[in-house]
Amino acid sequence: MGFSGRPKCYVFAIFVVFVGFVGADDYVRPPAGRSLYASLSDDHSSTSPQQVHISLAGNGKMRVSWVTKETTPSTVKYGKSQGKYDASNTGTSSSYKYIVYKSGQIHDVVIGPLEPNTTYYYKCGLDSSPELSFQTPPAQFPIDFAVSGDLGQTEWTKSTLEHIGKTGYDVLLLPGDLAYADFYQPSWDTFGRLVEPLASQRPWMVTQGNHEVERIPFIHKERFTAYNARWHMPFEESGSSSNLFYSFDVAGVHVIMLGSYTDFGPDSNQYKWLECDLKKIDRKQTPWLFALVHAPWYNSNSAHQGEKESTRMRDSMEALLYNARVDIVFAGHVHAYERFTRVYKEEADKCGPVHITIGDGGNREGLATKYKDPQPNLSVFREASFGHGQLRVVNASHAQWTWHRNDDKQPDSVWFTSLASDSACVV
Ligand SMILES: [Fe+2]
Repeated sequence: MGFSGRPKCYVFAIFVVFVGFVGADDYVRPPAGRSLYASLSDDHSSTSPQQVHISLAGNGKMRVSWVTKETTPSTVKYGKSQGKYDASNTGTSSSYKYIVYKSGQIHDVVIGPLEPNTTYYYKCGLDSSPELSFQTPPAQFPIDFAVSGDLGQTEWTKSTLEHIGKTGYDVLLLPGDLAYADFYQPSWDTFGRLVEPLASQRPWMVTQGNHEVERIPFIHKERFTAYNARWHMPFEESGSSSNLFYSFDVAGVHVIMLGSYTDFGPDSNQYKWLECDLKKIDRKQTPWLFALVHAPWYNSNSAHQGEKESTRMRDSMEALLYNARVDIVFAGHVHAYERFTRVYKEEADKCGPVHITIGDGGNREGLATKYKDPQPNLSVFREASFGHGQLRVVNASHAQWTWHRNDDKQPDSVWFTSLASDSACVV
């Protein structure tokens, strides 16, 4: 699994396939940060756990995932004191093939139920493995989310992660485009090693972007092979039939993770699941309701205009989210930051969701710097800089959103009032 860089002929071949697959943008991106591939080379032993990350798995449980080169026990030992593990659970492991690449053993273990707002110490696999720790989210408000899309693995990504790590967040939300492996599977491994220091300490909840599809016609027909194998999200726990769309509750917030690159029409499994999921929500239990997609439904950047994952998905699902009074829709895909006012059917609507594009995590494609001019009335704030978002949900009615540039300051800050607390919007 170790490597120090992408072979040039490989990169060219993949570029040809990729451009043919997704189409080219009509804007020129500025240079991105230097790639971290080489510095993420692999010095782990064959049985040592690497790429550890955790995710919420429903009912106070946590899923722990890691990779080993050789088969080792899929067991997590854990407890509330350092070096003292009074509980354990064993899960499963698997590997996948992608053309000539074969992954290591990907371990998947659910532990708990766990106490909220508590630090747990844990070991993955063998007793000789290093001790790690994570903190569970609170059961009640306040709760802090970090939000970052289109991460990749460059020096800008590193900067974004360093900033996020200092925020004291409880749960990370990632609206798609993780590793930018783009068919070169060892890049999934380097991405796993890059994010492990954060992703092994706090739950990372992700949904897929176009860079996760990785289907090559006639060569590798399955979609999302690596993503589904490596980033198992709690879809079974939320009654979904696919890892590509799911939901979860945390501390008074219901979060819906939608899939922009799987079927979303009225006859699709995703649409039917979303209808059921929305009906089950009790706003007394979860006064806040967020949704994540990858391709933004509202976007005044020149990049990614008119893609069907934006326009047709919005046509199909916007009414469902509006009628359920979703508070905020986060998106990625466009490598910039943009915040819209509350909106429905392309008009300002005080009972519609706020749409926020946060695709500025730091990937190698660079920033999307061109915008439609003049700025549409619906667009409140927009800027093409690398950064990340923080959302502090203070109580059932108030939350503060801030967008932070990695370079310097916090240019955008706004307080949101939940739609569940607005008598004019209660349904
Ligand atoms: Fe994307």
